[in-house]
Amino acid sequence: MKEKMQALRESSLKAIVDCSSAELLEDLRVKYLGKKGELTAILRQMGALSAEERPVMGQLANQLRADIEQAVAARRAELAAGALEAKLEKETLDVTMPGVKKRLGHKHPMYNVLDQIKDIFIGMGFEIEDGPEVELADYNFTKLNIDESHPSRDWTDTFYFTPDSRILLRTQTSPMQIHAMERRKPPIRILAPGRVYRKDEVDATHSPMFHQIEGLVVDKGVTMSDLKATLNLVVEKIYGKGTVTRFRPHHFPFTEPSCELDIQCHKCGGKGCPTCKGEGWIEVLGAGMVHPKVLSGCGIDPDVYSGWAFGMGLERLALGEYKITDMRLIFENDVRFLEQF
Ligand code: DAH
Repeated sequence: MKEKMQALRESSLKAIVDCSSAELLEDLRVKYLGKKGELTAILRQMGALSAEERPVMGQLANQLRADIEQAVAARRAELAAGALEAKLEKETLDVTMPGVKKRLGHKHPMYNVLDQIKDIFIGMGFEIEDGPEVELADYNFTKLNIDESHPSRDWTDTFYFTPDSRILLRTQTSPMQIHAMERRKPPIRILAPGRVYRKDEVDATHSPMFHQIEGLVVDKGVTMSDLKATLNLVVEKIYGKGTVTRFRPHHFPFTEPSCELDIQCHKCGGKGCPTCKGEGWIEVLGAGMVHPKVLSGCGIDPDVYSGWAFGMGLERLALGEYKITDMRLIFENDVRFLEQF
């Protein structure tokens, strides 16, 4: 029996040390120490021993069990360390390898122009106001003194959501005047750029979605000369010093008096050319003194306060600035086109 145990000691310890994986090691442990294992098989024969021999063999068997257990634990630790090392080896990262370049987008030329205009107005103390594109007809029309029969309210011109013509996609940024006057107390100086929608067919100069920039000033003692001086200054900043302007009388329901501002064509100096379509002048924006009805509708006393407002199209400005001849290019967002600006 002693010899058998010695043989088992030698074969098992060698097998354990040579074992190459955690799974095989567990198999070996069961093979030697399990209920049906080799050591148990030897111990079963203890009954045949004499009373003197039994404790001696028992002690030897316990020692062998402890040694095998210890060998298994030691090998298990070695294998685990090896596995970790292999994993680390596999996951090594070469930080000196050149990266994969991500292709960045490009700032849209229209936003270049918008940012330039925002800067000009922020420099004059205006705040940027944001508001909904899905609007109530009340704000888009009624509170702006645009009566029920006005053609711009027509279903052929405006995108309505509800059959009662109550909710729509705003057709202009002018409802932002109402929001601003309801939200704020005078003095008010705001600039509200945003998308507007009209049922227009797409062509080189039209799109059912385009951008406007609304401006509004309300304070005590505000006059038409403030409107003209401010807009002349803005035009000079956008189009350059010495740009000639012209204020033409016009009609908007929400301003009285109303006007349109033209600049003299910078290409031909007013003689007439393709850029100004032979007119000599280029229309830039609509403006006027805020109608007293609009002021009082927003809870502002027109006997105490007055205001001026303007609205301009952003696309036309960007097209002019970058000499782009077709508005569709602005919305197609082909990065090869955008990257030129
Ligand atoms: N909302 C007008 C339009 O879309 C433009 C406009 C004209 C805005 C006069 C104004 C204004 O604020 O005072 O044609």
